Amino acid sequence: MIRDLWLVGIGTGSPGHVTLEGVQALREAAAILLPRKSGKDDLAHLRHRILEAAGATARVIPFDYPVRDESLPYQARVAAWHDEIAHRWQAALRDAPDGPVALLVWGDPSLYDSTMRIAKRLDPRPRLRVVPGITAIQALTAAHAIPLNTVNGPVTITTGRRLHDGGWPAGADTLVVMLDAECRFSDLEPEGLHIWWGAYLGSEDQILRSGRVEDVAEDIAGTRRAARERHGWIMDTYLLRRLR
Ligand SMILES: C[S@@+](CC[C@H](N)C(=O)[O-])C[C@H]1O[C@@H](n2cnc3c(N)ncnc32)[C@H](O)[C@@H]1O
Repeated sequence: MIRDLWLVGIGTGSPGHVTLEGVQALREAAAILLPRKSGKDDLAHLRHRILEAAGATARVIPFDYPVRDESLPYQARVAAWHDEIAHRWQAALRDAPDGPVALLVWGDPSLYDSTMRIAKRLDPRPRLRVVPGITAIQALTAAHAIPLNTVNGPVTITTGRRLHDGGWPAGADTLVVMLDAECRFSDLEPEGLHIWWGAYLGSEDQILRSGRVEDVAEDIAGTRRAARERHGWIMDTYLLRRLR
């Protein structure tokens, strides 16, 4: 039975992104639930570096992510996947030592991350503690040294899929796009459109590009393709704004 579950935001690729509160939580946890290696070995390596740097001595308990059932419709597929992950956590933690269990969450647990939704499926429901982390958005704006919003302007955060399906959201001023494997910025009317793009943000492999979409779109798409091939995976985020 898990009484306390701590979700520790670890930032997006640098051990330096973990806050002092995060380090303390990792030190105080009795067990750490860690996904077993997948195709993204660099990420598994980073997680271990973070635990080492934090001086965490807790027992590491591995679990495997299930495979999504592609035959189900999207919502049902995600729900079934979350159910199965919760089930696996519970099974993996059967013999865990008493005390808080920590989970390392990429970026910040509030942003395009389902760890909290999965945690709510545990029975009995543990007390949840969330330790915030640096998001990919913060890593992007810091890397480019730009403000996130214009003066008094709104910010819209969306996904590549939504940008493709719905186009530029009505009333958007600054648009941040995540989870886009298809460079959907290329579908937009390029007039006055500027992009600030970043991949592997925060890590030693960070790549940045910026400029007018019509000038840099091809370069970004090619750079992205090549980097993805070299690493076997890629995570990228971009910010769009129409400049007059
Ligand atoms: C499932 S979401 C997780 C977001 C995370 N919780 C956060 O706070 O940034 C994954 C998406 O975050 C973005 N992302 C995460 N890490 C990144 C990185 N190091 N560089 C660029 N984008 C990143 C990408 O858009 C990626 O598709």
